[in-house]
Parts: sequence; structure tokens; C-alpha cells
Amino acid sequence: METPNQSDQHEPSGGFSTPVGSRRSFFQWVTGGVACIIGLGLAVPLAAYFISPALTRRKKSWVSVGKVKDLPMGTPKSLDYTMRIKDGWMETKAIKAVWAVRQPDNQVTVFSPICPHLGCSFRWNQQDRQFQCPCHGSVYDPKGNVLDGPAPRPLDQLPSKIEDGELKVMY
Ligand code: FES
Repeated sequence: METPNQSDQHEPSGGFSTPVGSRRSFFQWVTGGVACIIGLGLAVPLAAYFISPALTRRKKSWVSVGKVKDLPMGTPKSLDYTMRIKDGWMETKAIKAVWAVRQPDNQVTVFSPICPHLGCSFRWNQQDRQFQCPCHGSVYDPKGNVLDGPAPRPLDQLPSKIEDGELKVMY
């Protein structure tokens, strides 16, 4: 049973019937829609900010490995350098090495330290004047050509350049 006072609560005075419920739900929808748009506007760039480092490829850059004048003429020298590796959110430092050979015309050939056979590290044997890999016996001359063993190709050369007397490599 409805008392007369209860029915008056829904109808404003003046005799007009205003659709209070539908106006309220309209504003709820508008507020919800605006909140969704603002939320998406914030979420998309935020997600891109967090995900993009994992999707970007590791950039290669030139790294200085020493002065050209410090390289002996015609004899390979192992050059160590510290490299910063950024992989997604991880940034680590790694000590890398390359083999550099200074030619008589002052050009420098730089070899990757990884044997092209199965990836061992090779060494320079000064007495035999050869690069020798201890794993399966591949042997290379100072220009990186295969002299013996199972190596399928010459030593891998790395891109290099000389700037202001500094030898730079891209690894
Ligand atoms: S890894 Fe060097 S010879 Fe096999």
C-alpha cells in the first residue's frame, strides 16, 4: 500500500513528470564513457612504453678498441673492450675481444674471436704465425684464410674504421 506522501516523492510539484531515472543513467553512461576514453588515452602510451624495449632490436654501435699506433705491424693482437648491452629492460656490461691485424699500409683487419667452425675461441700462435683453434684443430693464416681443419670458411671479419687514430669496431 502506498501512502499519499510516498507517491509525492516521485513527482515534483508543478505537475510535470521528469524522467529522473533516465537522466541519471544518461549521466552515468557519459561519465563512464569519458572515464574509458581517459583510461585508454593513458593506458595505450603506458603499455607502449613498457612493451617497446622488449620489442626493439638490439642496436649495434661503433666501439673504440684502442689506438692503431699501439698495434704491432703484421702481427695479430687481441684487443679487449667493455661493451654495454641493452636487452629490453636489462642493461649489462660484457667484456668482448677482437683480433686486430695492422697491415703495412696502416689499414687494420679485425676478426671476430669466434671460430667459424663451431664457435670456440682461437688463439694466435706467434711461432707458427697462425691462428689455431684448440677445439677441432682449425688453422688460419694472418689474413684469416683456412689452412687446415674442419672450418667451413675463413675467419669472420668485423666492420671497422679508424677515426683520429682510434680503431673502432662494430660488434
Ligand atoms: S670450433 Fe674451432 S675448429 Fe671446431
